[in-house]
Amino acid sequence: MNKLIVSLLLTLGISGVAHAAGDAAAGQAKAAVCGACHGPDGNSMAPNFPKLAGQGERYLNKQLHDIKSGKRTVLEMTGLLTNLSDEDLADISAYFASQKGSVGAADPKLVARGEALFRGGNLDKGLPACTGCHSPDGKGNAAAGFPHLGGQHAQYVGKQLTDFRKEDGGRTNDGDTKPMQSIAKKLSDEDIAAVSSYIQGLH
Ligand code: HEC
Ligand code: HEC
Repeated sequence: MNKLIVSLLLTLGISGVAHAAGDAAAGQAKAAVCGACHGPDGNSMAPNFPKLAGQGERYLNKQLHDIKSGKRTVLEMTGLLTNLSDEDLADISAYFASQKGSVGAADPKLVARGEALFRGGNLDKGLPACTGCHSPDGKGNAAAGFPHLGGQHAQYVGKQLTDFRKEDGGRTNDGDTKPMQSIAKKLSDEDIAAVSSYIQGLH
């Protein structure tokens, strides 16, 4: 097959609904209202509001479409995305993706258990290592839509893992093969506390 067709197929293959390269400069103005909770540059101060700075553009855009459509419930954002177009969401995603994410600190008492889980998973429980998709330094895989986790608030991370684990309600959106819902079911409360703390300090 000629090279042009191969690259065209690859491009189509990784696109999908959420793919559109946004304009970061245009996104900055459109994101003004978001700064109240997420921080003007996407580094939120409150531990229950996720940091968006440096997050992968594809992942951000997918979350915004899922929140807008109700596939993922975020009560605090009710109505905020209703009047934003696909282009607005893409531009806002590009803006936050272009910002530098800040890093927190891990609780020294939880680091060993958190690190072992993040890097090695748990063979007995059939739990894969987080590094396989979120990368060893927690950067994730922007092209694949696997989110950047390093430096994220432990409280927010812990809530997501607990929500993914719930049978009803909780976090109802996930990746195409629903990796996080099955992974979170294999984590105990203690595992979640340890791995979330480890992630907060990871960079
Ligand atoms: C009143 C506070 C508030 C405002 C304003 C707000 N958000 Fe949020 N946002 C939240 C909370 C809280 C969550 C996490 C909910 C949860 O725990 O699942 C969230 C989650 C998100 C997520 C998912 C992050 C992730 O890592 O999965 C994205 C993306 C996002 N918001 C973007 C925006 C954008 C863009 C705007 C502006 C148009 C905005 N938010 C305005 C509170 C807010
Ligand atoms: C097979 C790939 C894969 C593995 C392994 C994996 N994840 Fe994920 N993870 C994902 C994908 C994909 C998403 C995004 C889901 C979506 O698009 O809504 C995600 C989302 C998350 C989120 C939500 C991020 C946010 O900003 O809201 C957290 C937290 C998370 N993963 C933690 C972990 C931890 C901890 C482990 C190891 C115990 C792990 N993941 C292992 C693929 C994976």
